[in-house]
Amino acid sequence: MTAPAGHLIEISGALVRARCTAPVGLNEVVYVGDDRLVGEVIALEGDVATMQVYEETAGLSPGAPVELSGGPLSVTLGPGLLGAAFDGIQRPLDRLALSQGDFLGCGQHLAPLAPDRLWEFRPTAAAGAAVHAGDELGVVRETDSLDHRILVPPGIAGTLVDIAAPGAYRTSDRLGRVQPASGATVDVGLAQRWRVRVPRPFRQRLHATTPLLTGQRVLDTFFPLSCGSAAGMPGGFGTGKTVMQHELCRWARADVIVFVGCGERGNELTEMLWKLPDLVDPRSGRPLAERTILVANTSNMPVPAREASIYTGVTMAEYYRDMGYHVLLLADSTSRWAEALREISGRLGEIPAEEGYPSYLSSRLAAFYERAGRVVTLGGREGSVTIISAISPAGGDLTEPVTRHTQRFTGCFWTLDKRLAEARGFPAVSVEDSYSMVSADLEPWWRDEVSPDWAPHRREALTVLEEAARLRHTARLVGEDSLPDRQRLVLRVAELFEEGFLRQSAYDAKDASCSPARQVRLLSLLLDFYHRGLDALGRSVPVRALTALPVVAALARAKSTFGDDEIAGLDRLAIQIADQCASAGKAEMVEAVS
Ligand SMILES: Nc1ncnc2c1ncn2[C@@H]1O[C@H](COP(=O)(O)OP(=O)(O)OP(=O)(O)O)[C@@H](O)[C@H]1O
Ligand SMILES: [Mg+2]
Repeated sequence: MTAPAGHLIEISGALVRARCTAPVGLNEVVYVGDDRLVGEVIALEGDVATMQVYEETAGLSPGAPVELSGGPLSVTLGPGLLGAAFDGIQRPLDRLALSQGDFLGCGQHLAPLAPDRLWEFRPTAAAGAAVHAGDELGVVRETDSLDHRILVPPGIAGTLVDIAAPGAYRTSDRLGRVQPASGATVDVGLAQRWRVRVPRPFRQRLHATTPLLTGQRVLDTFFPLSCGSAAGMPGGFGTGKTVMQHELCRWARADVIVFVGCGERGNELTEMLWKLPDLVDPRSGRPLAERTILVANTSNMPVPAREASIYTGVTMAEYYRDMGYHVLLLADSTSRWAEALREISGRLGEIPAEEGYPSYLSSRLAAFYERAGRVVTLGGREGSVTIISAISPAGGDLTEPVTRHTQRFTGCFWTLDKRLAEARGFPAVSVEDSYSMVSADLEPWWRDEVSPDWAPHRREALTVLEEAARLRHTARLVGEDSLPDRQRLVLRVAELFEEGFLRQSAYDAKDASCSPARQVRLLSLLLDFYHRGLDALGRSVPVRALTALPVVAALARAKSTFGDDEIAGLDRLAIQIADQCASAGKAEMVEAVS
């Protein structure tokens, strides 16, 4: 233990003040009290430092010592992150639970990565080579699902003086030395530290061209997300935000998933923590944990660590992006994060802006979403960080500050609708109140990789759904029977779209996820029925004769009847649609003539 750099003079919840006797830096990490609780300096005034403490401060008293760490809040990056669970300041929850039991005491410190674990390192660079930040030095098979590339850390370039032979190493071992053009040699190991509030550098930002497929039809087809963009998902209480995030964790086509449980219910996160090791990646058949990192800060954990958790999460996401991976960061929820910001700001006595949030809420949100992106990394690879954050607006009010500001900084907005959720219409994504600003950028990908039908079909389907929404208002005023047949058909077809396409149960074995090819096929079947229905109306077939066709019920059920590898079944349904629509109404006409 080093000599104290100051002593506490005031304690106010998670905020404490100390009079310092040594120079302290803003954002420097400090250890407070005899238990050495972790904190961070967030304000300095003369020799008085204000600190937020990431742990429970109940046992502290004035006069307690404060030690300096010498640096800002940082995380350790290296093999062993995948499959692990951390709190907001990267304390390893799983290993702490093993050593301390389920109820963590204060001041419990363990290195984020297991120090004794050996990793099989295979060098790929040779001694004597000129190396730059981002260049690969070697590879560690971190899990059976992922190669962990050991790269020259940002800011380092020079000649690789030596490199370790193939073999097993600890994260603290030196693997090589780099001699810069001037100055002392720099050691490079399996792990590195990075300041969480500073984005990791990259070479160039790239445009959105590839979708981040989620397996959820309403998202992939109607409100698609691209690799490297950000989406906000606002929804009131019980509208399905957490279930959706869990589904994305399982099905989204990302190499690595970072799940930040931020201020949500402890039991949900505990359940996830327990379940994760047993969950199987539905696409690879391997354990999901092999490509997942969990950052958990539940509602009953100290507020400042919640504020730190999204930075901890996004820094780990950028680290895997730099290796050339596509990483998805899920945050549940940024509203609870913003509440932490509000609480700290209030205790600091800052002048509140909208609804008590500090005036820097918007710039903090912007800085967070800015860390999403598809990039060329320093080493010349392509990688991306995509962010999807749930927002829980109080009372479902979408005009509140967190929702509004998130809307400004994200290209996709998936609004969850209370009424749909109450009617158990999951996922309760509202077609009227959601949007994606990247759908046009993704059209070439869908055209080349899946089908040229995607773009025109989604546009036509959206038009039908919008028209139906307008017609419902009219029907409420004048009664549906007074509407012309074409409009009544639009209403029926929209219902079929909702039932047969938009609704997707997370618990349906065949339909929990939907491949791009099946999405387009289902959509084209529904539109086929619509077009043939319009033709039939032209032959004076009544709407009720069309909606009574057996194929309508089959269409509504098709999503659960035919899974991703049973698309041929959908082709057979297409023949039934053609046959039944062609003969629709014949019986009635014969009846009318006789
Ligand atoms: N995609 C889905 N498929 C089937 N059921 C769902 C789906 N989404 C949500 N549900 C049902 O709705 C319930 C509530 O969902 P969830 O806990 O995700 O809501 P939430 O928006 O996270 O709520 P809160 O605001 O309390 O955090 C779930 O327990 C589940 O029964
Ligand atoms: Mg929830």
